[in-house]
Amino acid sequence: MPNTIAADRPSDTLPPPLRPEPESAPLRATIENFNFYYADGFHAIRNVSMPILDRQVTALIGPSGCGKSTLLRALNRMHDLYPGNRYEGRITLLPEGTNLIGREMDPVMVRLRIGMVFQKPNPFPKSIYENVAAGLRVRGISDRRVIDEAVEIALRRAAIWDETKDRLHKSAYELSGGQQQRLCIARALAPNPEILLLDEPTSALDPIATAKIEELIDEIGKETTVVIVTHNMQQASRISARTAFMYLGELIEFGETSQIFTNPRHPRTEHYITGRYG
Ligand SMILES: Nc1ncnc2c1ncn2[C@@H]1O[C@H](COP(=O)(O)OP(=O)(O)O)[C@@H](O)[C@H]1O
Ligand SMILES: [Mg+2]
Repeated sequence: MPNTIAADRPSDTLPPPLRPEPESAPLRATIENFNFYYADGFHAIRNVSMPILDRQVTALIGPSGCGKSTLLRALNRMHDLYPGNRYEGRITLLPEGTNLIGREMDPVMVRLRIGMVFQKPNPFPKSIYENVAAGLRVRGISDRRVIDEAVEIALRRAAIWDETKDRLHKSAYELSGGQQQRLCIARALAPNPEILLLDEPTSALDPIATAKIEELIDEIGKETTVVIVTHNMQQASRISARTAFMYLGELIEFGETSQIFTNPRHPRTEHYITGRYG
């Protein structure tokens, strides 16, 4: 007899993952039986199903390497930039019901509709104005007045207008790290994405810049659907309405953020949020 499977897969010694309860809140997307395989064959996301609430912040948490970034990147088809990666299942954008990972969906189109901000601020080597205008130009908008207005709206929404309005044509590199990250948020917001994805957006920032961005995400989440990956549990509990806890590529538990942090139902979630992880 081979060794027990439990030794290879510690989750087999614990109850199986919990399925999310049906949602009563309006949904922006649903992830159904989603699997993801990297080109080397690694099965990074294992049969994940969860809702994404409309105009709310959803947090993805879990230990390093559990698949948070992999799942987030699937939502805007970033994995298509590398050959051999494979999606399985369905990610449905509502209300129209488009399958974002369907073969007929052009990944470039998906990325135009689902914005993303990364861990390290990555402004283009261009002016502040041109950074925000970039996404609009890609969409074929060229009317100067339209772009001027959209740039101002996006910079205001990213709470960086007052700091930049007098130097819009200066290089984005002259901004501080926190300002650059707010600029990247403005750049992602300018084309009015249907979902905004944030992958540990404050992990490279100091506490003051982090607090500003958290406040900002809280505001943005009232108008735009946001999915944020964070390893900071205080951050997840402060800014999100729903939290998904992942472990070894599985979604262990999904629920209202207050429930996940005060009354987790799965022992693995409890171990993680109480810091008894090792
Ligand atoms: N390009 C890749 N090819 C193969 N495996 C990868 C690749 N990128 C990430 N992984 C693996 O996928 C798993 C999930 O990684 P990731 O989504 O980055 O985790 P997290 O964001 O939760 O820290 C890890 O085991 C990681 O080593
Ligand atoms: Mg990550």
